[in-house]
Amino acid sequence: MTSTADAPAPATDPSAVLAAAATAPFGTVFGEVMSVARADASGWSEPALEPLTSFSLHPGTHALHYGSSCFEGLKAHRTVDGGIRPFRADKHAARLQQSCDRLLLPVPPIELTTRLIEMAVEANAAVTPPAPGSLYLRPTMLGTDVTIGAAAHPSHTAILYVLACPVGHYLPPRPLTIVVETEVPRTTPQFGVVKTGANYAMALGRIDRARREHEADQVLFAPGGIVQETGAANVVLVDGDLLVTPELTDSFLHGVTRDSLLQVARSLGWTVEERTVTVDECIEWSARPGAEIGLMGTAAVIAQVGTLVVDDRRLTLSAPDDGRLVELRRTLGEIQTGARPFTFA
Ligand SMILES: Cc1ncc(COP(=O)(O)O)c(C=O)c1O
Repeated sequence: MTSTADAPAPATDPSAVLAAAATAPFGTVFGEVMSVARADASGWSEPALEPLTSFSLHPGTHALHYGSSCFEGLKAHRTVDGGIRPFRADKHAARLQQSCDRLLLPVPPIELTTRLIEMAVEANAAVTPPAPGSLYLRPTMLGTDVTIGAAAHPSHTAILYVLACPVGHYLPPRPLTIVVETEVPRTTPQFGVVKTGANYAMALGRIDRARREHEADQVLFAPGGIVQETGAANVVLVDGDLLVTPELTDSFLHGVTRDSLLQVARSLGWTVEERTVTVDECIEWSARPGAEIGLMGTAAVIAQVGTLVVDDRRLTLSAPDDGRLVELRRTLGEIQTGARPFTFA
């Protein structure tokens, strides 16, 4: 197995990469080493480190035509004992397996994905910012069969690589404006739990319209008045020690942050309800003093919703600096940096 001792030497001074990442948009500054494995009829290759450069793909590559691609997104955090630790890499590797399975792509073993993640972290350690920054990791799968005649056939070959980006905030650090969309779902039932590009493309039109018409940050998809999720995060409602979130269905991505926060909230003695959440309930929630609505995701962490736009009505929510969502966010941060011991189930 390739060790990080064989890592290609980055060309750029790490401090210059970190300085660039501090002001650049999320996900646009990259660590200069990626980890890679390839699958063909004989199975998976040994994981290897390669310099991050443009690579060539045949223009007839399956992923470019038939959407045989999926990805993950997780973060590695600098820890209080001087290490760098990817957060719940095994859980993300399992979700990648599920995505690959649904797309009929070669399914990477959990140990392969977690090894690739570890290698990318080690090789890009010097460009990992301190908390609240982190190293965002993007395991990416592409179906690489060269064929434009296989719309009804899966790709049997694939590449899996892990990109690393030093990052800070993904969403602006202020209460968000969210437009509630009750006509269309975020994606199809077949792909709700799949982290694949088509889902994001499908949501984009509504998100773009919400930005233009309402200066919104995101869209909450709630077809028929039943809340699913936003374009890139799960939804949570909190009021005192009560936490409510939609129960897991095939209609939305099962977030690792969601799972983590539910476990943390339960450990703190909160009441956690996983059940159907309606738009009417969100409207009612916005009128309750002290009740908060938030978004949960790796990139978003836990973001507070300040305004819900429902049918052109703007509803204001309480988003206090010292509220329950901020407390949850702080607790999760302490767990991620090792300041607070916690074992996830
Ligand atoms: C559509 C969607 N839903 C939910 C999430 C939250 O998932 P996680 O907490 O695993 O990042 C994400 C982020 O990856 C997402 O893109």
